[in-house]
Amino acid sequence: MKDLFGKALRDYHNGNYTEDLITSTNISGEDELPLPYLFRSYSKMPKLEQKALQLATGNVLDVGCGSGSHSLHLQSKGSKVKAIDISEGAVEVSKLRGVKHVALKNILDETETFDTILLLMNGTGIFQELSQVSIYLKHLKSLLNTNGQILIDSSDIKYMYEDDDGGLWIDTNANYYGELDYFLSYKGEDETPMKWLYLDLERLQLACETVGLHCEKIMDGEHFDYLARLS
Ligand SMILES: C[S@@+](CC[C@H](N)C(=O)[O-])C[C@H]1O[C@@H](n2cnc3c(N)ncnc32)[C@H](O)[C@@H]1O
Repeated sequence: MKDLFGKALRDYHNGNYTEDLITSTNISGEDELPLPYLFRSYSKMPKLEQKALQLATGNVLDVGCGSGSHSLHLQSKGSKVKAIDISEGAVEVSKLRGVKHVALKNILDETETFDTILLLMNGTGIFQELSQVSIYLKHLKSLLNTNGQILIDSSDIKYMYEDDDGGLWIDTNANYYGELDYFLSYKGEDETPMKWLYLDLERLQLACETVGLHCEKIMDGEHFDYLARLS
């Protein structure tokens, strides 16, 4: 990984914001991911994220913290938060922005336990593919204190396969339609392609059942997205 995401976060934090990140997937063309969005304050966050932050209680783990926006908000409310990310740039910027407890760590290597685990901005993305969901869920479950909760958001991206007539062009022989190849570029450089999973609520609920987690929908977002609580 070249950590172009981290490079962009560093640039923005250091006042060198000249370009946005460019993203694309195997089923969609190029899109800009505006860097200011990655530094959003509570008032600029989608309602789903605001709701997740309102529901976060106790000792919190912010998984894939990015620039630390969610952790910073919770810290400002007096919560004890640990933020982790696999991006060196993200970890560095989170520290510089004031997140007190940040670690360069893959969620699968985390061993402490928490009352609330947050996975936000398509939190199921880090599971990468449908076949890995139960591995991640089992591990996340092992990090929960008694009565702990996982707050996670994702989207049902079936709508991305709709043609102009409203028909769907999903290939039923292919992999799950929410498994995408995700491409990112920044300032003319291409990141190593990665897998990114969008998981519809029904499949998340089924996967939760298989690992002994209860999955309830907390709310719908504005565009086929949802926030769920796993406990
Ligand atoms: C879409 S970004 C979201 C950043 C932040 N949560 C936000 O809402 O602005 C996903 C983040 O997850 C991190 N990430 C991906 N896989 C991870 C893993 N296995 N463990 C921890 N962090 C991971 C990425 O480096 C990236 O910073």
